[in-house]
Amino acid sequence: MKYKLTLLLLACCSMMQAQTPVYLDPSKDIEARVEDALSRMTLAEKIDVIHAQSKFSSAGVKRLGMPDFWTDDGPHGVRPDVLWDEWEQAGQTNDSCVAFPALTCLAASWNPDCARAYGHALGEEALYRGKGMILGPGVNIYRTPLGGRNFEYMGEDPYLTSRMVVPYVQGLQSCGVASCVKHYCLNNDEEYRHQVNVIISDRALHEIYLPGFEAAVKEGKAWGIMGAYNLYKDEHNCHNQYTLNKILKQDWGFDGVVVSDWGGAHNLDQAVKNGLDMEFGTWTDGLTMGATNAYDNYYLSKGYQKAIVEGKYTTKELDEKVRRVLRLFFRTTMNKQRPYGFLCSESHYEVAQKVAAEGIVLLQNEGNVLPIKPEGKKILVVGENAIKMMTVGGGSSSLKAQHEISPLQGLQAKLKDSNCRIEFARGYVGDVGGSYNGVTTGQNLKDDRSAEELINEAVEKAKAADYVVIFGGLNKSDYQDCEGHDRKTMDLPYGQDKLITAIAAVNRQTVYVNISGNDVSMPWRKQVPSIVQGWFLGSEAGIGLADVLLGSTNPSGHLPFTWYESLDQCGAHSFGEAAFPGIWREGKKIIDEEYKEGIYVGYRWTDMKKQKPAFAFGHGLSYTTFKVTNLKAESNVTTDGNMTFKVDVTNTGTCEGSDVVQLYITDSKCSVDRPVKELKAFQKVSLKPGETKTVTLQTDKRALSFWDETTGDWKAEPGEFIAWAGDSSDRRTCKVKFTLK
Ligand code: GLC
Repeated sequence: MKYKLTLLLLACCSMMQAQTPVYLDPSKDIEARVEDALSRMTLAEKIDVIHAQSKFSSAGVKRLGMPDFWTDDGPHGVRPDVLWDEWEQAGQTNDSCVAFPALTCLAASWNPDCARAYGHALGEEALYRGKGMILGPGVNIYRTPLGGRNFEYMGEDPYLTSRMVVPYVQGLQSCGVASCVKHYCLNNDEEYRHQVNVIISDRALHEIYLPGFEAAVKEGKAWGIMGAYNLYKDEHNCHNQYTLNKILKQDWGFDGVVVSDWGGAHNLDQAVKNGLDMEFGTWTDGLTMGATNAYDNYYLSKGYQKAIVEGKYTTKELDEKVRRVLRLFFRTTMNKQRPYGFLCSESHYEVAQKVAAEGIVLLQNEGNVLPIKPEGKKILVVGENAIKMMTVGGGSSSLKAQHEISPLQGLQAKLKDSNCRIEFARGYVGDVGGSYNGVTTGQNLKDDRSAEELINEAVEKAKAADYVVIFGGLNKSDYQDCEGHDRKTMDLPYGQDKLITAIAAVNRQTVYVNISGNDVSMPWRKQVPSIVQGWFLGSEAGIGLADVLLGSTNPSGHLPFTWYESLDQCGAHSFGEAAFPGIWREGKKIIDEEYKEGIYVGYRWTDMKKQKPAFAFGHGLSYTTFKVTNLKAESNVTTDGNMTFKVDVTNTGTCEGSDVVQLYITDSKCSVDRPVKELKAFQKVSLKPGETKTVTLQTDKRALSFWDETTGDWKAEPGEFIAWAGDSSDRRTCKVKFTLK
């Protein structure tokens, strides 16, 4: 009897086994699951999954048990839910998040471990919030310091960007949440982002603007890429034959989904054929205020289905899109092995604090005014940026943070048990608003006093203070580091220059902390002893800044971009309006913007022009001192292009700290013009006073190569190269020559 029972059980199990379809069997290979699911889907179901059904979601396949797919902004934290078909936030009370520091701060940490921890923490927040894809990170290159969204990106150098984006993507996706690396490609300014057609050499495209995306795809294995609004070769980047089909999918082997930017699709035939897989956005082409719930009118929606039924298209392109969407499903929503999500956990706040601590840059510290010695002292804190919340605003990366500690609150918290007195003076009035898509800061920053009165009050108080710490900069309001607009000038807004100059004139212990994602002109730089670049730091801003200012954190951030004295030192602004913002075509529908500076972006430009910026790319000071010496190559001849270098870094000061040793390569002789030097390796290293560590840095043939426009491939020409090491692009203290055979 028992034997029969066992047989019966086995038969049932094998029946059960037979009934579990391949696509639902987690033990099966993803590609087999994709093909099986595809074979079961109707035409209507295939069309449903390739376009939005609401502001941030696309349909799953109900009948087959595949859930709807939810995306959400953004690179710095998980955006609060909006209403089904509105930009306005839904007013939920369960979707406050941790606001992590802006990606410029992450880049300034020069610490890939920070990037991995950042991506992982963000992935856990997204998982808890039920999101399958985070619309980020952004890796567009700082071509101009006026770029409205530079604060969302990782600086001016393609190598630094590529080293920092890979671990971020891997950390995020290790949670089973897809990244959507954006905005691919050449979306380097905001004002006319929907109309700009970029004209650029192949060398500049491949050497400067693509490496961040290429690394994210080839090494990071990104599951999503977001097409950019702008055009290249006269095709919108959300459906662009050259950038999507040829470079991304064919050359780089990208197997994920190409998601349009919101409203970035403009043409059915191109949307079908030129590499777009998921159409998201506002109404049909994103630029006309159409009917709400217009999702049936999207290009990859009913119109496409009708065209297939009428025989205009086979299902060839459709099936390719659906395969990629299904692969995304099996990597995320259909992946039963996904870990747990957490929201606002201590571990996430720790990551936010660590990234802030490692990204804040000490630009200048004459007379070692910093760190502040607060015992028995009176500190005057000045500036709207000392009190204004920065996590709301700036465009789609805006957040509803569970909390945000302002710089003033951070100092007050850290000094509450000391005998130090803190006073505050507004100093200037900038943007008293504080809302975005219905999320409000709740702050009342209204102040009707005149600029004169505000400056006089601050100056009078400064005369009686032991230290003055001014928090100024930008604030993510329109034209001040914000999506949709570029800055009109590098100057500080709201009369801050006058305020800073007046205060520095009466107090020699003045510190200026700049809060921004971009560099700003600082005409008073010689009058202010200490200057700190504070970034948009998110929830833990005040903690991060107070720790640096009071010395419990020894700053170790290094600039991810060149801090120009003025726009005259920037290549993008050296060729007239044709190079920026571009020249409108007849009919003012398209504006041609020619990247005339080519590969000479950032320090590559100032090196070539022998100009001295205010602060160099890679610059960052510490409360201790370091020296970088004794650079050696394991061998001074290479045939395969691979090189291993060793270099000593010594802490020659009195307190523990971290330095970023940077390796730059010069191609001494080449058949084409090349930059004076290019960053090709770096490592952050922590050292006790007096300690020396020997750092190993490796480069490969790509590090010696340029993009050969005649062959459409990378090329390293045999001959002599020079490797330089130092802890800033303008502080290279040792070099070694080597030869590529
Ligand atoms: C915006 C941005 C993009 C964002 C998307 C959704 O226009 O360009 O970065 O992810 O739309 O908000």
